[in-house]
Amino acid sequence: MAATRRISRRDVILVVLGASLMHFSTILAPLSSQIKLINNVSLHSASPENIQILLPPPRSTPSTTIPVSSELLLAPDTPELDSVEPESNVSTKSLQETSIIAHAPGWTLFRNLYMSNSTLFIVTDSSSDFPQTRFMTSNPVKHVVNTPENLALRRPTPYDMDFISYDEAQRRWSGDSFENGDIRVSTVKGNTVLINEPRQFLRHYYHFVAELFFGVQAFWHGAFSAPSSDANRDYSQGPYPAPPPIHRIIFMHADAYGWRDDPGFNAYFLRAAFRNDRAWHFPLVLLADRFAAHRGQICGVATQRIAAEAVEAMRTKNQLVGARVGGWWAPVRNAVLQFARAELPENIANSELEQAVDVYGESTNSPLPMPKKVVVTYISRQFAGHRKLAPESHTGLVEALEDLAKRRDWEVNIMTAERKPRDEQLQIISRTTILVGVHGNGLTHLVMLPPTRISAVIEIFYPRGFAHDYQWTSTALGIRHFAFWNDTFRTAGVGEGKPPYSYPEGFQLNHIPVHGPAVVQLIEDHVEGKFAPP
Ligand SMILES: *[C@@H]1O[C@H](CO)[C@@H](O)[C@H](O)[C@H]1NC(C)=O
Ligand SMILES: *[C@@H]1O[C@H](CO)[C@@H](O)[C@H](O)[C@H]1NC(C)=O
Ligand SMILES: *[C@@H]1O[C@H](CO)[C@@H](O)[C@H](O)[C@H]1NC(C)=O
Ligand SMILES: *[C@@H]1O[C@H](CO)[C@@H](O)[C@H](O)[C@H]1NC(C)=O
Repeated sequence: MAATRRISRRDVILVVLGASLMHFSTILAPLSSQIKLINNVSLHSASPENIQILLPPPRSTPSTTIPVSSELLLAPDTPELDSVEPESNVSTKSLQETSIIAHAPGWTLFRNLYMSNSTLFIVTDSSSDFPQTRFMTSNPVKHVVNTPENLALRRPTPYDMDFISYDEAQRRWSGDSFENGDIRVSTVKGNTVLINEPRQFLRHYYHFVAELFFGVQAFWHGAFSAPSSDANRDYSQGPYPAPPPIHRIIFMHADAYGWRDDPGFNAYFLRAAFRNDRAWHFPLVLLADRFAAHRGQICGVATQRIAAEAVEAMRTKNQLVGARVGGWWAPVRNAVLQFARAELPENIANSELEQAVDVYGESTNSPLPMPKKVVVTYISRQFAGHRKLAPESHTGLVEALEDLAKRRDWEVNIMTAERKPRDEQLQIISRTTILVGVHGNGLTHLVMLPPTRISAVIEIFYPRGFAHDYQWTSTALGIRHFAFWNDTFRTAGVGEGKPPYSYPEGFQLNHIPVHGPAVVQLIEDHVEGKFAPP
């Protein structure tokens, strides 16, 4: 147990969240033999599972290893990037302090730079040894114009780059369990170029190649070459000290296409200038493909949900933990709820549930607990662009729900998601038992509902309309789904079962009818156990 390091799901999620904030788009190169030089300085936390912040490269992405022969790389005067002495496997000194190899305004070659929550961190106890941050980075404004206001806006804030002491870094990223190697630092192996350029300049052949990569090559090459007064020396004359390879280029503010110019020369240049004759090795990789999933029966024919292929494949092999109650999803849900500072309801935290989840897969008789209090949340789309309830239906539903709250001392929330901070939305969802709403994105919150015996989703459609999105998803989590049309409904075991999908005229429009008292009647019947488990 002590020997195997556990990376909690939460860590992974935080890494992924942090990375997505940065809109990472990366070019990966293989871990060539040179990479072994730096293996020893990995923070002992890099494992295939937690280098997920790297998006898979687009098709035919160039590798970026500078073409030099291996003898030259092994030349004795070649500076080895990161040739730091290895630490013992897990020591209190596992964090490496930041240092600078070379600097000019706008070009800074670091050892051991850190990124967390989209901020670049310099780990040091002597920040005065470093250039001012405004000479290293900037606030990436979307549109660059030459006005004093825009110039001022471009100054970096501590959210862009910050200094952090060694002790603070340890405290923040390692916590108490640091001694056990449970540090929340994932090393991105290899040598990286981190490009903080607004998209405006990236998608332009001149700025990309003749400006940016001109600078990259000059600075990277120069930082590692031995001083020589021979200004006439040609690279082809060798031998020369070659710089270490660049394994990865990260465009911090561009998606996978954000650095591709329209004529296509930027990609052409990268492919041509940096070698493309390499294999990329993903030690452990999950490839997800939407259209391949649609070729399966479960997705393509039955549900139109790509996740259905994944869930069913594992469920039929009995490898989905707590398949009937979404036990396998619980770590993700709980991590997100904790992140939102939502109080995990007692019935999530307590071990009674954990047990129920564990045994449920085997014994269908093991019921989930009832909620301490019934909480009904109606997600209103009345301020959305389309697909709204008729105004009188909305009013009628709200009135019926508020009356229900009074009569039964239940909690009722009327939530307009787009007008509530994300944390608050999730705080409400974390205690919700029954989620009500018109077919639409707001119902996605159902994946964060706490599992209770009566957790349910009531999805309102335009009469005769139906889609699988929330029906399939809630069912996959063991949450009962009711499709609701004005004053009538269907659910598993009631009526003729699930209808085929259908988008009648009116589906997307703003006069969807619903009879509030009928919704409330259904809620009460359901809470009283009228619908046996399917
Ligand atoms: C560095 O790590 C590699 C593999 O992880 C190992 O083979 C090598 O002996 C290490 N080098 C040193 C100096 O410890
Ligand atoms: C490092 O880990 C390896 C294998 O996990 C172990 O055999 C070795 O004794 C460890 N070394 C130290 C210094 O802890
Ligand atoms: C992450 O950054 C945001 C600002 O961009 C800040 O409000 C938030 O507190 C930070 N979170 C952590 C965990 O540092
Ligand atoms: C909706 O249901 C109510 C109650 O049964 C009924 O009075 C009303 O006519 C129905 N509306 C539509 C549009 O079907």
